[in-house]
Amino acid sequence: MKHLLKMLDLSKEEIVDILNLADQLKYELKHGIPHHILQGKTLGMIFQKASTRTRVSFEAGMYQLGGYPLFLSSSELQIGRGEPVQDTARVLSRYIDCIMIRTFEQNEVEDLAAFGDIPVINGLTDFSHPCQVLADLMTIREYKNKLEGLNLTYIGDGNNMANSLAVGCLKVGMNVTLACPQGYYPDERVLQFAKEYPNFKIVNSPKEACIDADVVITDVWASMGQEKEAEIRRKAFKGYQVNDENLSVAKSDVIVLHCLPAHREEEITAKVLEQHSKEIFDEAENRLHAQKAVLVRLMDK
Ligand code: CP
Ligand code: NVA
Repeated sequence: MKHLLKMLDLSKEEIVDILNLADQLKYELKHGIPHHILQGKTLGMIFQKASTRTRVSFEAGMYQLGGYPLFLSSSELQIGRGEPVQDTARVLSRYIDCIMIRTFEQNEVEDLAAFGDIPVINGLTDFSHPCQVLADLMTIREYKNKLEGLNLTYIGDGNNMANSLAVGCLKVGMNVTLACPQGYYPDERVLQFAKEYPNFKIVNSPKEACIDADVVITDVWASMGQEKEAEIRRKAFKGYQVNDENLSVAKSDVIVLHCLPAHREEEITAKVLEQHSKEIFDEAENRLHAQKAVLVRLMDK
């Protein structure tokens, strides 16, 4: 693995390898076993959008690995004044060992990778959120002791989370059902990929999607950058909610995940969020461990 740009690029073996290493690093951290695998390495983190989990977990993770995390707000970089990403990539390649970027366009991340000489990690684009999906798979495996054959249901917007979850979960052998309103389906590239999988379907009814689910996931109705559409989306997504009614047809030991931040009473009720807070905050914690595994695989050559 040279970069982590999107789930479409990863093989099943690479995903499982990252999850195994993440489990090991989590165990070592919990037992006070130091793992300064990235001593002397620097990670630059470019943020063009807000973040709590991604920023803090990468920063803490890099420190725990013995390396140095450098926070680079796009408003303070020349990139924010129009310096092309191609030039930024080539300059940063001369100073640091890896770039994590959170931005809007997937192309920007792909360009960074193409023009620079160092690994690039996608910390979220409008198209993809691979770091989150690796943490989600790690969490599902912790709770269910397997991935293959599990029924995963995603309710809501066909956004970056839906795109990456569908691809990642299908690659590891899960059955994926999405409940999205018409007009809010996942990206065409994802639909093309998923069409080869008979265990993938999109339905319009969230309750139907939840039948026999082992895992139910949702995400916000309006993502970062879509704030102006919030009102229209609130109408379009009405009922596309993880609530008691929809969960009543899922398996009795269903787990509920949410990448966070959550909008209570929109995509998930406050009640369900609190009932399943153990899984949801384990999921948030696992961002740390899964990303450390990615950092090690990309930089420890
Ligand atoms: N889930 C997630 O990526 O959270 P942040 O936006 O806080 O980084
Ligand atoms: N779909 C959300 C995910 C946030 C972690 C967004 O892009 O804002």
